[in-house]
Amino acid sequence: MRLAVFASGNGSNFEALVHSVHEGVIDGKIALLVSDQPDAYVLTRAKKLNVPSVAFTPKAFESKAAYEKEVLDHLKEAKVDLIVLAGYMRIVGKTLLQAFPERIINIHPSLLPNYPGRQGILDAFMDKAEQTGVTVHLVDEGVDTGPILAQETVAIEEHDTIDSLERKIHALEHELFPKAIQKVIKELQKEHVK
Ligand code: GAR
Repeated sequence: MRLAVFASGNGSNFEALVHSVHEGVIDGKIALLVSDQPDAYVLTRAKKLNVPSVAFTPKAFESKAAYEKEVLDHLKEAKVDLIVLAGYMRIVGKTLLQAFPERIINIHPSLLPNYPGRQGILDAFMDKAEQTGVTVHLVDEGVDTGPILAQETVAIEEHDTIDSLERKIHALEHELFPKAIQKVIKELQKEHVK
């Protein structure tokens, strides 16, 4: 199973996924890192970890479809089977959704459907929620919507700051995401054998 990871920023989840492949938690290969931010730190991580990467400036394309068509060409060339969004801050369009039906997985730092969007951790914290968490789900055309594959809770305790909460959420993400991806891979492998 060949995976492409899409990321827009820091890339701590990307790095955790690469380690999970090395440790055998994920039975697959990370064939490509795709970023929509040419300056993102995740590209430095990819270089260090010897994962091929490609970066785009979506604004430079005449449309979302044109941008995604270009991405798709790279995915085909890398023979990608499954797309994993790890902090990819962009809504996936029809071009990619139709090319990878039920084969795009996203991670989000909240208990969806609560606190979707770009700042799920901060939104839960500012809302003084008693708990938040991490959700892994299949991607559809919405913002952080689609069938849930895995979800775990994190308590927001009185002594928590936004920094301590972020640390707890990221630690959980790095553990939950590889396991959820591996479950999907297993299902796809079963279907392949049928
Ligand atoms: C992660 O917390 C991920 O759940 C979130 O972006 C962060 C990326 O961190 N994704 C979303 O908010 C999607 N709506 P990372 O770059 O260190 O992996």
